[in-house]
Amino acid sequence: MVATHLLALAASLTAASAQAIQGFNSGNTFVNGAAKAQSDFEAEMTAAQNLAGTDGSFTNFRLYTMVQAGTTNTPISAIPAAIDTDTGLLLGLWASAGQAVFDNELAALRSAIQQYGSDFTSRVIGISVGSEDLYRISPTGIANEAGIGAGPDVIANYIRQVREVIAGTPLSGAGVGHVDTWTAWVNGSNSAVVQASDWVGMNAFPYFQAEVGDNSIEQGGPLFFDAYDATVGAVGGKPVWITETGWPYQGPTVGVADASVDNAQSYWNQVACRVLGNINTFWYTLRDANAANAASFGILGDDLDASSPQWDLSCAAENTTSTSTSASSTATATGGAGGRGGNGNGASTTEDSGLTATPVPIQTNVNGSMTLFPTGGASATGGASSNPTGSTGPTPTSPPVFEGAATISKVNGAMLLGAIAGLALFAF
Ligand SMILES: *[C@@H]1O[C@H](CO)[C@@H](O)[C@H](O)[C@H]1NC(C)=O
Ligand SMILES: *[C@@H]1O[C@H](CO)[C@@H](O)[C@H](O)[C@H]1NC(C)=O
Ligand SMILES: *[C@@H]1O[C@H](CO)[C@@H](O)[C@H](O)[C@H]1NC(C)=O
Repeated sequence: MVATHLLALAASLTAASAQAIQGFNSGNTFVNGAAKAQSDFEAEMTAAQNLAGTDGSFTNFRLYTMVQAGTTNTPISAIPAAIDTDTGLLLGLWASAGQAVFDNELAALRSAIQQYGSDFTSRVIGISVGSEDLYRISPTGIANEAGIGAGPDVIANYIRQVREVIAGTPLSGAGVGHVDTWTAWVNGSNSAVVQASDWVGMNAFPYFQAEVGDNSIEQGGPLFFDAYDATVGAVGGKPVWITETGWPYQGPTVGVADASVDNAQSYWNQVACRVLGNINTFWYTLRDANAANAASFGILGDDLDASSPQWDLSCAAENTTSTSTSASSTATATGGAGGRGGNGNGASTTEDSGLTATPVPIQTNVNGSMTLFPTGGASATGGASSNPTGSTGPTPTSPPVFEGAATISKVNGAMLLGAIAGLALFAF
């Protein structure tokens, strides 16, 4: 439990002077399907860097696709935005729409390297092949009508394809991995993806874990760290990045989890204040793209006024709040792993825009947008894969680690992951 890991972690942290990477997730469209332009990405990146209450360390963004919305395979405009704002990028390639669509992702990756050169490649902190693809084909994902997914052999094959594309380019040292729900990572049937990856990106949302019985905000921290520990324990020493986590400030009650600003504040203090700076983390999220989503997570609400976060990000309360967790909950991969929807695996299926609570299935579009199916009409076998522009984009998930040193040396924060992998997190 928590206390037992503290000393080991503290010891390892003292040796790691580098700051871990911290950032936010960003799809290539707004929920209404409108493409984000370069200026939209720049506005997000600038707001992230200037967030009141933080020290300016939110200098990274995770993407779900390499393709600019509305195009076949033009590189996403987040790239020139990142160059202009000096933002690091965890690249993403959408991997649940079949080989033809994946070929477009690869083409956009090749084009980006050629078009933007070292201004681009020097800012890449990792490459994620897919997002929650394994969750979507799990029983929970299917029950939640989470949309089209892909199996472990497909993802592992795509990872090999990415390695072939970057070989001999300035990105050859980038860590290639995959982002999925913690429940997918602890599922031994997905080991081919673990083996193929340099790092593992974990998404976990206690808010959606109704299946555990008590997923109240008081259990938010313990459930999250149980999920993290379970993932670390299942991936054989591969670095584990937190690619998506957060608590909604408004939305439906899921199990006994209430959405409120106070609870979003509490979850920030319980989780963000302990992992930021120590573990590579992409928080969910900076802003929601659509206020109509059932649950809203955006720190900045519906606008991008960096001076007005909805809750205090300074972690001032964290120093005086007991961090002793009950450590009562044990992560269970059974049954409920899955995502949102009340089944609780803690997975989120959100795209760049907000998350939805359970009963409302979410389909992530290939183009990075999230589609809600309020009437339950989405079919898991539906059109996502056949409709590249209509499928959901990448979900915000977790960060990478690499066997290879190349990426690590580029990214200051990444080194810490290596030190932390295998240790429990609770140390801070
Ligand atoms: C475990 O992973 C395999 C392969 O992705 C999948 O078919 C299976 O449904 C998963 N099991 C659970 C309980 O999620
Ligand atoms: C909380 O404690 C940490 C570590 O001592 C310190 O760096 C930080 O400034 C403190 N935060 C506040 C708001 O006092
Ligand atoms: C993204 O996909 C959604 C769902 O298919 C679609 O409605 C929207 O028009 C697409 N947006 C772009 C920019 O391609």
